[in-house]
Amino acid sequence: MSWEVHIDWQGRTRLVGRLHTAERSVAVSFEYASEWLSDPASFSIDPTSLPLGPGPRHSAVLFGAFQDCGPDRWGRVLIERAVRKGVLATKPYRDTDYVVALEDASRLGALRFRASPQSPFVAASQGRLPPLVRLQALLRSSDAIHGETETASDLRFLLGAGSPLGGARPKSAVGLPDGRLALAKFPKPDDTRDIGAGEILALTLANQAGIDVAEHQLVRVGQKSVAVIIRFDRIGNARVPFLSGATLLGLPHDEPGAYTLLADAIRRFGDNVTNDLAELWRRLIFSLLASNYDDHLRNHGFLMRRAGRWSLSPAYDINPVPEIDRVRTWKTPVSEEQSEPSITGAIEVAPRFGLKEKEALSILREVCNAVAKWRVIARKLKMKATALEPYTTAFEHGLMTEARTMLRK
Ligand SMILES: Nc1ncnc2c1ncn2[C@@H]1O[C@H](COP(=O)(O)OP(=O)(O)OP(=O)(O)O)[C@@H](O)[C@H]1O
Ligand SMILES: [Mg+2]
Repeated sequence: MSWEVHIDWQGRTRLVGRLHTAERSVAVSFEYASEWLSDPASFSIDPTSLPLGPGPRHSAVLFGAFQDCGPDRWGRVLIERAVRKGVLATKPYRDTDYVVALEDASRLGALRFRASPQSPFVAASQGRLPPLVRLQALLRSSDAIHGETETASDLRFLLGAGSPLGGARPKSAVGLPDGRLALAKFPKPDDTRDIGAGEILALTLANQAGIDVAEHQLVRVGQKSVAVIIRFDRIGNARVPFLSGATLLGLPHDEPGAYTLLADAIRRFGDNVTNDLAELWRRLIFSLLASNYDDHLRNHGFLMRRAGRWSLSPAYDINPVPEIDRVRTWKTPVSEEQSEPSITGAIEVAPRFGLKEKEALSILREVCNAVAKWRVIARKLKMKATALEPYTTAFEHGLMTEARTMLRK
């Protein structure tokens, strides 16, 4: 099977190359199209795994750029259930099959796929994106998936016009009344704390700490919290190319990586390198002080705003994790040598982010002050005390003490 790969860039949809999959193998190859290569304005869609150049490139696993616009755990569960219930006719086999099973209209980033010049981009739209007012119905269907009581119509609904997007948690694409695209992130019935409220609180605090964050709002649906995150890979109707940190580093998704490795990638492929390095270090400090243990390499993103250069996307999927829930999570290490979360360790590597000690301490102070206000901010966001209490150990802990002691010196 062979797919034409296109990219939306500056108002035009352009053919960039062809992706081939073998009949009985998960191996793939990609080759840039000659018309793309001959255009002086062309660029690589995945600079680490697919540098610009003629001839096919082969890989035993799907190239990161394509994985980034395909489904993750949540999407795969939906697709597999849909196959079992006869909603989808064929079970996807390779990662590529999962990618092309997703809707073109809401696909993450700017890549698009079609079988031939005459065919539509896949998957062709099955209908209209669910509007925000359908959140309650979407949430009901999502709960049914967790209870394994879902019907074919639940699956059709969740697999419909906008879903599934990446990530492990239940979610749906939704259309906002003003026409913008957003991601609605639902609670799971077995959550032990209000995850949506925690995420919105963390995004708000991160913003106060000077971090550029995805636009967000907390929507209550009955007793439950839904985090609605506005898509940053769309500007009006235009699509903005997106790559995860994992892809920019050319690392498999289960590799822990390190913040210093992301800094190396910024230095190599970045746009506004000085700013992005400082911003990444600020995000590192925030993730330490707000106990964001969900900071794996797919939760760092890059957007192509200028041809061929990748700049940090707004921060997203920031989740404060209370101490008791950390056993199952593994935080992205500060550096190759420093895997234990530590403020001292972060200060030590600040020069790799282009920061002098004084600059680093000033960022530390700003972030520390913002995180310390977590209760005040949460009250402003009208979060209930019962939703907040479980988060105490995420915001008040040894690293906060370490930061304060260092700032007092
Ligand atoms: N505001 C946004 N605009 C565009 N793409 C986004 C946005 N937020 C997240 N994404 C993309 O969607 C993916 C899934 O979103 P998110 O990480 O929030 O979900 P999750 O289920 O909580 O993920 P995880 O598996 O890390 O828990 C991200 O990895 C990223 O590629
Ligand atoms: Mg995520």
